[in-house]
Amino acid sequence: MTIARLASFAFSGIEPVPVEVQVQIAPGLPAFLVVGLPDKAVGESRERVRAALAGLGLSLPPKRVLVNLAPADIAKEGSHFDLPIALAVLAAMDVLPREELAGYAALGELSLDGAINPVAGVLPAALGASARDLGLICPAAQGGEAAWAGRIEVLAAPDLLALMNHFRGTQVLTPPEPPAPESRPWSGPCLSEVKGQESAKRALEVAAAGGHNLLMVGPPGAGKSMLAARLPGLLPDLTPSEALEVSMIHSIAGLLRDGRLVVRPPFRDPHHSASQAALNGGGARARPGEISLAHNGVLFLDEWPEFPRPALEALRQPMETGRTTISRANAHVTYPARFQCIAAMNPCRCGYLGDAPRECGRAPRCGEDYQMRLSGPLIDRMDLAIEVTPVPPADLARAPTGETTEIVAARIRAARDRQRARYGAEGPRCNAAAEGLALERTLAADGPARALAEQAAERLRLSARGYTRTLRVARTIADLAGSAAVQRLHVAEALAFRHRGAARSQAVLAG
Ligand SMILES: Nc1ncnc2c1ncn2[C@@H]1O[C@H](COP(=O)(O)OP(=O)(O)O)[C@@H](O)[C@H]1O
Ligand SMILES: [Mg+2]
Repeated sequence: MTIARLASFAFSGIEPVPVEVQVQIAPGLPAFLVVGLPDKAVGESRERVRAALAGLGLSLPPKRVLVNLAPADIAKEGSHFDLPIALAVLAAMDVLPREELAGYAALGELSLDGAINPVAGVLPAALGASARDLGLICPAAQGGEAAWAGRIEVLAAPDLLALMNHFRGTQVLTPPEPPAPESRPWSGPCLSEVKGQESAKRALEVAAAGGHNLLMVGPPGAGKSMLAARLPGLLPDLTPSEALEVSMIHSIAGLLRDGRLVVRPPFRDPHHSASQAALNGGGARARPGEISLAHNGVLFLDEWPEFPRPALEALRQPMETGRTTISRANAHVTYPARFQCIAAMNPCRCGYLGDAPRECGRAPRCGEDYQMRLSGPLIDRMDLAIEVTPVPPADLARAPTGETTEIVAARIRAARDRQRARYGAEGPRCNAAAEGLALERTLAADGPARALAEQAAERLRLSARGYTRTLRVARTIADLAGSAAVQRLHVAEALAFRHRGAARSQAVLAG
């Protein structure tokens, strides 16, 4: 009456936590029990496993079948324990060889007919298995995803029968290949379709080049959403390690498509009705939120002040730390969340504040009330803040003459390459993520540039955060210009981009 064992994983954030599925078949009243802190989905595994075995023409022995998920103090969530439970039960029944199974970890959900369905978390599980020198048994559709883990034997099976035949040696499963990552040329909307708006386009380019946050304020129809939709095309491909990080998060969220890694920076644009849990992560099953799905990419918050206040305030910490921690009943879960925040808003509720013939009777009070929905610390985190004024209809009628996405993206790529060369593989991934020393060392600002920054910080009463963020933007502007040192000119442009600081920084420059 020995115990059959098979490795699997639970997930804490994107970390795979080893779980051992132990099965004991003992004399006693017939029963099939799962213990070890299972949630509802895991509890229901019993029924799916029983049905899948019946589909194979097997029935559970009329004994006491006890399944333990060890260690018992970690909460086990989701349906991916179906497959390891079924395999361990089959091993305990001596249908599958125990010694051979010991070399694998498994995850997958079972249908009642024994088919193995895709589950979340295959990529992190494969990395976890690889780290422990185990192979991985996973759903057929996700073999390619698992194969990304590198040195690892993957058994990607369509159903339980295929696995049984594999272990019997009657029909060996072919190892899956990782699908080639595809980096297609940008086929989305082109920047040249935006007519005029030169300063807004410049701000978009600077934001893209350094990964900075950008706030666009302007009346409806000014082109804010149009500009934001063109940002993804400006961003360079993810590096292999960034791609792996992003793919891990998307795998945990069950969003990885046909086993391909995410190679383009993600662009997430949640609707303003999104809850705090949807944005920040969490909820009944701790899933990554929009800010984590936007990791190494863009979070676009259109109609910014319309988001629920708690959801907005919850953004503050991740915007500084690059990660988010969700408190659960029995644990804290941390997900990466280093995203570039692009926000767009109307100046007031009706949208026409400052446009005398159209603004409502409550102006300018309505604008103040509307902007009050955003806290100072939140606005302070927007590195660039610009007013987007509508292009006159006569200009809209003209043919587009501006630069294409391709041309601007090439400049941005060059600026990013400069940043990467400067910070190295271990350093921050772009200027927006540069901290303390890394930032100070790389500033190499000339004397007048530093003087201007310090003077402006005092006159404009920049917060310490505002000062640092301005220097980062100045560094990016220098990178776009191919300048090793940050010059006065670069600092001046960065200051002009700071929220509502445009007029005042002009005064500083003049003075
Ligand atoms: N600068 C522009 N060049 C070309 N079309 C524009 C421009 N500004 C606005 N439009 C047109 O107006 C529409 C509305 O713009 P949109 O980006 O949705 O405005 P907003 O988000 O600021 O309310 C766009 O889809 C586009 O057709
Ligand atoms: Mg819009």
